[in-house]
Amino acid sequence: MTEDSLAAAKSCGLIKAACPTGSPGTAGRPAGNMLPRWVRQCRFMGRGLVLGVVLTSLVMLLYCLSARPPQRHLQEVLVPYSCEYHPSHASKQLVSNASRNLNGQTSSCSPKVDIMFMKTHKTASSTLLNILFRFGEKHQLKFAFPDSRNDFLYPWPFQRSMVKDYQPGMCFNIICNHMRFNADEVSKLLPADSAYVTILRDPAHLFESSFHYFGHLVPLTWKIPGEDKLSEFLRNPQKYFEPEGYNSFYLKNLLFFDFGNDNSLDPQDPRVDQGIHALASRFQLVMLVEHFEESLILLKDALCWEIEDVLFFKLNVRKSSTVSKLTPEQRARALEWNAIDWKLYRHFNATFWQKVEAYGRVRMAQEVQELRRRNQEMAAICIKGGAAVEADNIQELDMQPWQPMGEKSILGYNLKEGIDQRYRALCRRMLTPEIQYLTDLGVNLWVTRLWGRVRDLINW
Ligand SMILES: *[C@@H]1O[C@H](CO)[C@@H](O)[C@H](O)[C@H]1NC(C)=O
Ligand SMILES: *[C@@H]1O[C@H](CO)[C@@H](O)[C@H](O)[C@H]1NC(C)=O
Repeated sequence: MTEDSLAAAKSCGLIKAACPTGSPGTAGRPAGNMLPRWVRQCRFMGRGLVLGVVLTSLVMLLYCLSARPPQRHLQEVLVPYSCEYHPSHASKQLVSNASRNLNGQTSSCSPKVDIMFMKTHKTASSTLLNILFRFGEKHQLKFAFPDSRNDFLYPWPFQRSMVKDYQPGMCFNIICNHMRFNADEVSKLLPADSAYVTILRDPAHLFESSFHYFGHLVPLTWKIPGEDKLSEFLRNPQKYFEPEGYNSFYLKNLLFFDFGNDNSLDPQDPRVDQGIHALASRFQLVMLVEHFEESLILLKDALCWEIEDVLFFKLNVRKSSTVSKLTPEQRARALEWNAIDWKLYRHFNATFWQKVEAYGRVRMAQEVQELRRRNQEMAAICIKGGAAVEADNIQELDMQPWQPMGEKSILGYNLKEGIDQRYRALCRRMLTPEIQYLTDLGVNLWVTRLWGRVRDLINW
């Protein structure tokens, strides 16, 4: 049903495998308290397993109940009527120095407040969400949030009815949580001139990251032998991959899939180019993880924001020991395997550098330098020890990032003590992980949180 139930099934299988019903040296059933150690251990594990299964089923049930059927029928609205006299008046109040560049030139524009940010997987997008949340709070914007969890029922294609408290005709400023993109439905929530932005990542790195992070949730990986499943998979993906396999989209052309397309098309299929062109005409800015700071400068420029608005600390970063380096050969295979994403990436890489060119290389270099300087300044003001630490060393519960199944590989931060009053709120905001921030913005994430509790309890 959902991702986690299958992971549960998997660990059940492992526990059973670790507890053979008959051990080679013992004939028959050992009696009473003479039980050998392994039997007692198995009973203990068995009990844990039963508890785990019961709790998991319960959560699954709740999870499914919360995942309301997305096909609720809604009255058709083309452009939301409430968007017609929506924030244009609000944005006029925002006087901006935004496009004042380092040479002191100014050009007048008012900050864009209507934004669709397509949050792709494993693409530093938590950091971007933090930027959008801060901007939204600063300008009191209206977010279209999901209900009870932090995504719009991914991988279901997005529907307006998934938005928390949605009523036909409602108009929002920002939508930015995980979704499977569905342009038609999104456009019915936002003013017609909203800025659509997104971010891509080199598909080989993305594949590695996705395999690491979501591998457990894809049943077809369970049968891959050996310690290094990634290498084994890449050696012969056809042998293991099933396009219909549960959650299999995490392992093939995930970007193309996130944008609402079919990820198992032949790369030569005309629908691939059509898909890419549809995105190119829809999205005003496509950023690249590999050039994150340049991306933010382009974002600031496209949206007429201030440099303050795009200051950031890297959130949701993996411990470097858990990041595996692909060999050149593996990289080539990963790109071949994710050929559609590779095509997508190269297309938007080209448009990205055209934008940088148009912005001015020198000007870009100066702005990136300024952004780095300001970020370092903020790090010195806000972060205890000046850098990210492992989860076990994070003191405040509110600062704990959400962890992938089975490990604590995501780093987080400790807020410095005695921060100057002027920066206290900003520091806290910049360091607050996504789940906590969403809660602070009024999303009741009970499903996500409950699931986290159960995972803690049964020690996943
Ligand atoms: C714009 O810049 C001027 C000069 O640097 C400054 O005095 C003013 O406060 C700025 N306005 C805003 C809204 O930031
Ligand atoms: C991206 O574009 C730049 C500039 O044109 C080029 O040097 C680079 O090789 C491209 N990278 C990819 C992955 O296509």
